[in-house]
Amino acid sequence: MRKPVIAGNWKMYKTAAETQSFLKTFAPLVAGVNKAEVVVCPPFVNLPAAVESARGTNIEIGAQDVYWLKEGAYTGEVSAPMLSAIDCRWVIVGHSERRQYFGETDETVLKKTIAALDAGLTPIVCVGERLEQREGGTTTAVLSAQFSGGLAALAPEQFARLVIAYEPVWAIGTGKTATPEIAAEAHAFIRDQIRGKFGADIAESCRILYGGSVKPDNIKALMAQPELDGALVGGASLDPASFASIVHY
Ligand code: 13P
Repeated sequence: MRKPVIAGNWKMYKTAAETQSFLKTFAPLVAGVNKAEVVVCPPFVNLPAAVESARGTNIEIGAQDVYWLKEGAYTGEVSAPMLSAIDCRWVIVGHSERRQYFGETDETVLKKTIAALDAGLTPIVCVGERLEQREGGTTTAVLSAQFSGGLAALAPEQFARLVIAYEPVWAIGTGKTATPEIAAEAHAFIRDQIRGKFGADIAESCRILYGGSVKPDNIKALMAQPELDGALVGGASLDPASFASIVHY
């Protein structure tokens, strides 16, 4: 059985004070939830405040990016050991916004994923096609290239510790959710790739989250698909009541 993960990607929203206030309201709303792991990913600068506020709750904290080296003259970067040193346990890697605006490639995704795993973090590695790729019929080719370039080089024991998020770019922040069937089809394709490379056991145990306009009113239908093992939620994770209602799907 794959335990679902409901993760909130806050992107560049909220100050440290807003982070503390969110968690104070949110924690009691999801206390006792056992059917899914609950993760909140605030901006770097708010991570220590988030970790402190989440201590003793069932909420874990994640970062939104990481650099692949441990330390050095890399102005502005943050390493995986620095994240694990503050009890940050998760990290999003290869989000489409990082691919689009910050030059992330499958090659850097692989390096970051390895660095995260080495530091004991759980990476949530994002893949997904853009609108013109879906319309041009190349969705599976894109997913397959992202898998081969970003993940296939991992050792099986490394791969077994990560989580994948399928986020069709055309569904992010647009209000256009992939239908549960479209999402499930993409998840099944990704799982086939995993099976081909890492074998049936690892494929069956790998958690694949869906992301893209997940809201309280569509989470139930998405989670009804056995292929969907949780969600990576953007906008709807910024409000405690809305995110809690998604966690309770
Ligand atoms: P929205 O839920 O705002 O569409 O964002 C999805 C996302 O990019 C999560 O990583």
